[in-house]
Amino acid sequence: MASAVKQSPVSIIITDAQGNIEYSNPKFTQVTGYMANDVLGKNPRILKSGYSPAGFYKKLWKKITSGETWQGEFHNKKKDGTFFWESAVISPIKNPLGTVTHFLAVKEDISEKKESEKKMIDIIEEGQRQLGRDLHDGLGQELTGIAFMAKSLVQKVKKNLPDETKNIEMLVDHVNRSITQVKNISKGLYPANLEQDGLQTAIKSMAENVNQLYPVHCNFNFKNVKRLPDPASEIHLFRIAQEALNNTIKHARAKNVTINLSQIKNIVKLQIIDDGIGIGESMQKNKGLGLSIMKNRARLINATLDVRLNDQGGTLVECLLGLRKGI
Ligand SMILES: Nc1ncnc2c1ncn2[C@@H]1O[C@H](COP(=O)(O)OP(=O)(O)OP(=O)(O)O)[C@@H](O)[C@H]1O
Ligand SMILES: [Mg+2]
Repeated sequence: MASAVKQSPVSIIITDAQGNIEYSNPKFTQVTGYMANDVLGKNPRILKSGYSPAGFYKKLWKKITSGETWQGEFHNKKKDGTFFWESAVISPIKNPLGTVTHFLAVKEDISEKKESEKKMIDIIEEGQRQLGRDLHDGLGQELTGIAFMAKSLVQKVKKNLPDETKNIEMLVDHVNRSITQVKNISKGLYPANLEQDGLQTAIKSMAENVNQLYPVHCNFNFKNVKRLPDPASEIHLFRIAQEALNNTIKHARAKNVTINLSQIKNIVKLQIIDDGIGIGESMQKNKGLGLSIMKNRARLINATLDVRLNDQGGTLVECLLGLRKGI
């Protein structure tokens, strides 16, 4: 084997057409703890952590056996049981007749990058939570006090200054509207009912809020939804739904949007489907942060995230989260 492959800073595996390992380079051993002999003749699935939905590997295998290159990320397990993340490119190698004879996988350990992504998102989450609480408990309470004082002022001036009464009543209206706005903003920043009552309740109240505030009609369907074992998953799924819904409101010009949340066996499926103008490939590269944070969030909980045109032309955002068996 060429020394470029031997000394490569990335893991390299070559398998036969059935997926059995014929070669692994020293970096692979360094990352996974498996010696080349340990894995010779074995399928790379020995690295599987058990997190990814079954369909994930099926799709991968379908793509590479049809002669295409697959690119993506794995959540894998080392020989000593520790989990790690890899970014991988897997290409089929064909003989002159075009038959696939081998697969080449080039993989990079991205666990550290993931860790800093996670920290960044945790910081955003904590900042939002803090701001949400401060708005609700600070500004919200302050405004409630002002509304109360203004209301009692109405009673006082009614007799002596009837002309002023109207103005003060208008002031009360304004303050009450501001209170509603503050509450809505703080609810978005910090959905208090998420931790207590779970994803289904939080999504339901977000959808009801959208129905009250925006011209788009938001439907929701829940099927067999249980509390998730990991609270972080609930937060990230909620934020994904929230960003998808915000995008529908901001960009889609949709009449309807539907949120579906279901659990079938160990797969949690979240879909946000709108009937708007539809998201094009090029739009996804727009300057916004929302989609990329959504993708980061999905990756953090080892879920897959798909954003595409749906069959009716609107936008479909789909997040699939595999729960570990036995939980
Ligand atoms: N449901 C949708 N329908 C139509 N276009 C969409 C939809 N969702 C996203 N887009 C398009 O994709 C782009 C990128 O979305 P993204 O959420 O990343 O950014 P943004 O919403 O523009 O900004 P930010 O999320 O940072 O506030 C949007 O600018 C918009 O053009
Ligand atoms: Mg957005």
